[in-house]
Amino acid sequence: MPTAATDFAERLDRCAEDTEAVLARLLSDTLLPEEIARPRRLMDAMRYSSLGGGKRLRPFLVVESSAVFDVPREAALLAGAALECIHCYSLIHDDLPAMDNSDLRRGRPTLHKKTDDATAILAGDGLLTLAFDIITRDELHKDANVRLLLTRALARAAGIGGMVGGQMLDLAGEGRFGDREPVDVARLQQMKTGALLRFGCIAGAILGQSPQRQYQALDDYGRALGEAFQIADDLLDVEGDAAALGKQTGQDAALGKTTFVTQLGIDGARQRVRDLLARADSALSIFGPKGDVLRAAAHFVAERKH
Ligand code: IPE
Ligand code: IPE
Ligand code: MG
Ligand code: MG
Ligand code: MG
Repeated sequence: MPTAATDFAERLDRCAEDTEAVLARLLSDTLLPEEIARPRRLMDAMRYSSLGGGKRLRPFLVVESSAVFDVPREAALLAGAALECIHCYSLIHDDLPAMDNSDLRRGRPTLHKKTDDATAILAGDGLLTLAFDIITRDELHKDANVRLLLTRALARAAGIGGMVGGQMLDLAGEGRFGDREPVDVARLQQMKTGALLRFGCIAGAILGQSPQRQYQALDDYGRALGEAFQIADDLLDVEGDAAALGKQTGQDAALGKTTFVTQLGIDGARQRVRDLLARADSALSIFGPKGDVLRAAAHFVAERKH
């Protein structure tokens, strides 16, 4: 009989495989109606940074939150692929010399190292735009209003009051703009990382047109998981293994980032992850056994080594 942990690992693997196949199809050379051409260099760059790597945790959250409401898996995989496109774009831009200046990502040279800054900027732009092409497609849901709600939620998670705004606060928190102010780390992390992960968790409720109470439960779960995820990332930057992570460690200290690790110390940050895990667990209680896989996902996030 599978344990919750092996069941989780198998489901994550299967989601990663399926996501890879969906992304490969979306990033093929085949033109969509009204597209004029898909330039080879751009496509190669987008494929380099989107295929063949990554845990695919965000698509997994979309697929598993959708499974709670019996949303068809194909629709959830498409929504998950849109979210993963935005995530991959955020990583490409995050790694640029003007931002974190990282050389390694998913065990390979970062895109700007492999190509050049301009190609990396455009590949990111291409992935961001493609995400919104995907999320509006008819196959996602027969009701256009549901697609509209999902699209708006994705825009809010990715944009000014979400990931992009969080990245701005992250850079300001380094003091690089000269006006170093006290940093609200919880808010910064909620925006730069939490917002996209939370979107993954509420996507199923939106696609499944769930009752408000269940939407709220997934919202609470997603917020706790999102914050725990970034604290785990910050802990891994200090004490993780670069080979397992596939990216350099010690970057945050070198750049002077403000994180919960700098504010609370290692033990304090670990304790905060444990508290968030308890919050994520309790948010899921209304789903009973249907929440088991999402519960295991939160434990994975807190305990991950990569
Ligand atoms: C890394 O995200 C960037 C952060 C938001 C901390 P992941 O750890 O999910 O990266 P991949 O997709 O598995 O490479
Ligand atoms: C990145 O946070 C969050 C994004 C929006 C991409 P980090 O800068 O800590 O992510 P890593 O450590 O480079 O993966
Ligand atoms: Mg960064
Ligand atoms: Mg970075
Ligand atoms: Mg990091």
